[in-house]
Amino acid sequence: MYICLEGIDGSGKSTQMEILMKWLDECGHEILRVFEPTDSQTGNLIRKMLQNPNATNENFQKALTLLFAADRIILMEKIQEAEDKGKIILTDRCFYSSMVYQNGIEWIKEINKFAKKPDIVFLMDIDPETAISRCEGKDRFEDLDFLKKISDKYLELADKENFIVINANNGINKVHDDIKRVIAHKLSMCI
Ligand code: TYD
Repeated sequence: MYICLEGIDGSGKSTQMEILMKWLDECGHEILRVFEPTDSQTGNLIRKMLQNPNATNENFQKALTLLFAADRIILMEKIQEAEDKGKIILTDRCFYSSMVYQNGIEWIKEINKFAKKPDIVFLMDIDPETAISRCEGKDRFEDLDFLKKISDKYLELADKENFIVINANNGINKVHDDIKRVIAHKLSMCI
């Protein structure tokens, strides 16, 4: 089972990932937890590039898109290995982030053809204003219009790709229960 959490920064992906991992672990499952960009050299280069003022340049964006795919192709080996061992894989973002944040959807699909599709994608849907207020004090600060645009693109994609849309404006426990219920159903577990 390959499970992905998607959503804008500040939507609570990492908090939910932590408690999800704890719950699955307590239920006796073996888990591999990953995130994109990864903590590889490529992932770290991506993080540096994201802070670059040239970020609006078209070729710079294309290079970044290719790097996201390059980072992902290595990650896929790790995911395949874990899956072969029967582990549950939890990922914070996957190729769907590229489809939402980067431009040129057909090209993005083409260069990410190798990427495994998650069995379940949860979209942590949150009010961009609330997400921004949750990010206060953190190193990255997104602009509200940008977050609104990304949020709309996520909802559009959710419709096409059958994501499970979670109301991430709710409190931590309610969001966790909503996610848990879906996973328990898929894994035929009791909660
Ligand atoms: P984020 O999840 O915030 O990672 P971290 O907190 O570890 O730096 O991801 C960094 C940014 O990368 C985020 O704003 C979304 C962006 N991103 C893309 O633009 N394309 C992608 O394919 C991925 C995976 C992430």
